[in-house]
Amino acid sequence: MGESPFKASILKGKVALLTGGGSGIGFEISTQFGLHGASVAIMGRRNSVVDSAVQSLRSQGIPAVGFGGDVRNQEDAKRVVESTVKHFGKLDILVNAAAGNFLVSPEDLSPNGFRTVMDIDSVGTFTMCHTALNYLKKGGPGRTDDDTGGLILNISATLHYTASWYQIHVSAAKAAVDAITRNLALEWGTDYDIRVNGIAPGPISDTPGMRKLGPDEIESKRTKELMPLFKLGEKSDIAFAALYLASNAGNYVNGTTLIVDGGLWLSRPRH
Ligand code: HXC
Repeated sequence: MGESPFKASILKGKVALLTGGGSGIGFEISTQFGLHGASVAIMGRRNSVVDSAVQSLRSQGIPAVGFGGDVRNQEDAKRVVESTVKHFGKLDILVNAAAGNFLVSPEDLSPNGFRTVMDIDSVGTFTMCHTALNYLKKGGPGRTDDDTGGLILNISATLHYTASWYQIHVSAAKAAVDAITRNLALEWGTDYDIRVNGIAPGPISDTPGMRKLGPDEIESKRTKELMPLFKLGEKSDIAFAALYLASNAGNYVNGTTLIVDGGLWLSRPRH
């Protein structure tokens, strides 16, 4: 893991809530936000994962709290957002990192399977944004007069820029996430001073997403022939991009989804 190029105080005093914050990319962002001054609340479906993530954050001196909950459930969303504000006094940053994924061909995917991933990734992201708006907006509860509005960061993908085998549901879901990012950036940037951005990671090692694709397949010679730019990223590559967007360095960045994939999605075989 790379050493942080940022000062440890860039998120001092900020409170962040991360869905899917207990594992994979979400946990790395939780950790880096905490190491750079933020208090961190994580939301996840599996209590054991959330609990051990909170323990790990606290052992690094990070003020952390965890809540079990499913982003598909509006009551869970409300309870977790309100509990975060009750615990830390306010909410500055919402990171939507919860995502569903499995590889399946379109003909083998049931409409309910398609809907499930849309529900987690797209509707879940909107639900969390909608629920957090009251606290993120300029002048919201717990915010001082000096505070700007808060920040939303949506974890996306590059699958839907072209097309991806066995990922029709995830591609559709992440396309919707990108639309949510742009539309909220426009409307909530204007009305509530909230910045809304995304990050589109490429293949990142040691993550649930990569384990689904299968490391053997990814590392194969054939993959490298077909995708000359292919190389795996690290979770810290995504977390450092998140730090940039969440810190004052990103103050003028609104409505963009930052691709952090080493250029992979541009890749074509050499000929
Ligand atoms: C086909 C499947 C399936 C599979 C579920 N379904 N798994 N269909 N192949 N492997 C279908 C079911 O048949 C069912 O439809 C519907 O989906 C709901 O299934 P449930 O098991 O009831 O859903 P649930 O328990 O809510 O679980 C949903 C889940 C989720 C989407 C499977 O548990 C999940 O994905 N967990 C993994 C999280 C993860 O890996 N996150 C990292 C994402 S990485 P029917 O019709 O039968 O009722 C990422 C990056 C993408 O997003 C880019 C990668 C490079």
